Amino acid sequence: GLKIATIGGGSSYTPELIEGYIKRKDELPIKEIWLVDIQEGKEKLEIVGNLAKRMVEEAGLDWEVHLTLNRREALKDADFVTTQFRVGLLDARIKDERIPLSYGILGQETNGAGGIFKAFRTIPVILEIVEEMKELCPDAWLVNFTNPAGMVTEAVMKYGNYEKVVGLCNVPIGHNMLESKLLGKNPEELRFVYAGINHHHWHRIYDKNGKEITKEVIDKLFSNNANIMENIKFIPFIEEQIRDLEMLPCGYHQYYYLTDDMVKKELDEFAKNSTRAEVVKKLEEELFEIYKDPNLKHKPEQLSKRGGAYYSDAACELISSIYNDKRTDMVVSTRNNGALADLPYDCVVEVSSIITASGPQPLNFGKFKPAQRGLLQLMKAMEEVTIEAAVTGNYGKALQAFILNPLIPSGNIAKKLLDEMLVVHKKYLPQF
Ligand code: NAD
Ligand code: G6P
Ligand code: MN
Ligand code: MN
Repeated sequence: GLKIATIGGGSSYTPELIEGYIKRKDELPIKEIWLVDIQEGKEKLEIVGNLAKRMVEEAGLDWEVHLTLNRREALKDADFVTTQFRVGLLDARIKDERIPLSYGILGQETNGAGGIFKAFRTIPVILEIVEEMKELCPDAWLVNFTNPAGMVTEAVMKYGNYEKVVGLCNVPIGHNMLESKLLGKNPEELRFVYAGINHHHWHRIYDKNGKEITKEVIDKLFSNNANIMENIKFIPFIEEQIRDLEMLPCGYHQYYYLTDDMVKKELDEFAKNSTRAEVVKKLEEELFEIYKDPNLKHKPEQLSKRGGAYYSDAACELISSIYNDKRTDMVVSTRNNGALADLPYDCVVEVSSIITASGPQPLNFGKFKPAQRGLLQLMKAMEEVTIEAAVTGNYGKALQAFILNPLIPSGNIAKKLLDEMLVVHKKYLPQF
């Protein structure tokens, strides 16, 4: 039977993961699920872990669910390892969002200065995990959600020299669901083709007969004023610009195509102490109160208020696709290998791929138009520099990443912001 280990098991998303495994009980011969956390997450791990046990029992399954603070014990002989941890917990995210805003600069979990610092805190930990995996479960697949998911996945491949890693995100699923709904169809009736990097990709849509219907979907998006992600405050894109792209942007492009408007919105929230991280902190407290109920034996509805809804289900589908060589079409973060002609071969891209027993086979996308290419190449270079700074702790590279990032102004304001963030996050930045 399979042993699956989840690092950051105390996450409020864990019930979705368990539900995903239960849904696939006939295709995944699970024997053991190990949920690992750290001392600070012990209470959450126990609450959500006990719910996981109730869910498995309610489904009539004999899977063992283990809760542990010992990562090595969890990794030993694992077949799949999934990661959903948050180094520095939500308090670090609150700082990532609030400190840039105190300079009038965008503050966001995975974008701008916040995203860069999340990479700085997370990459040393993921590289430690990879070293343990090489020793304890060298054949295991690593399924990474930990944000910034694209950069974390690239760090594992390039600096951890570990190949069996796939990064996952729920944004493409969110788009598929919303856009098929706008067309009055099921996602299975359409074909979605994605290319770019994590939280910075574009896509095209085709109908059953292979006819491209991207333009029709752009029409629907604007006529319905439709919002995609729970966690991103909605400001409609500017129609003429999106039409010129001839592809659909992702929700996170609001930060790049509507920067000033987004900063204004975020500054309002900043003033009301209701940045997304602060909202999530309350949401999470409510969720864990619900999880404590010994009569609760299913994933509660309230979890869908989190921005990451459906991401764990994607993990279960990915695991099943690898295990069963299902050749499912999924959007994943994987090594480019030439699929996106505009980006380096060895970098990680987020792209429609066929998921086989030997991992994702990215579909060849080809070249972008200049409008997408320019931003994408800049963003990827910014990611490469960020990862290198995270690995080496080199100050010049960290500043370089800030200056490259289009959401951070250059010059001494970048340096001031960087210096302040290095101080407040010091505890989680051993490399600097
Ligand atoms: P969370 O704050 O609930 O953290 C999850 C758990 O990680 C906590 O129980 C915490 O104690 C634990 N943890 C912290 N440091 C750890 C470490 N060093 N080792 C092991 N466990 C550790 O976070 P969340 O909101 O559930 O999100 C978890 C992660 O997944 C974050 O990085 C988040 O950005 C990411 N995420 C990604 C997607 C995606 O689309 N890929 C979607 C949602 C969330
Ligand atoms: C999005 C993203 C995740 C992100 C999350 C934030 O959908 O895909 O990568 O971390 O939602 O959600 P939250 O509820 O924590 O703000
Ligand atoms: Mn994501
Ligand atoms: Mn900049």
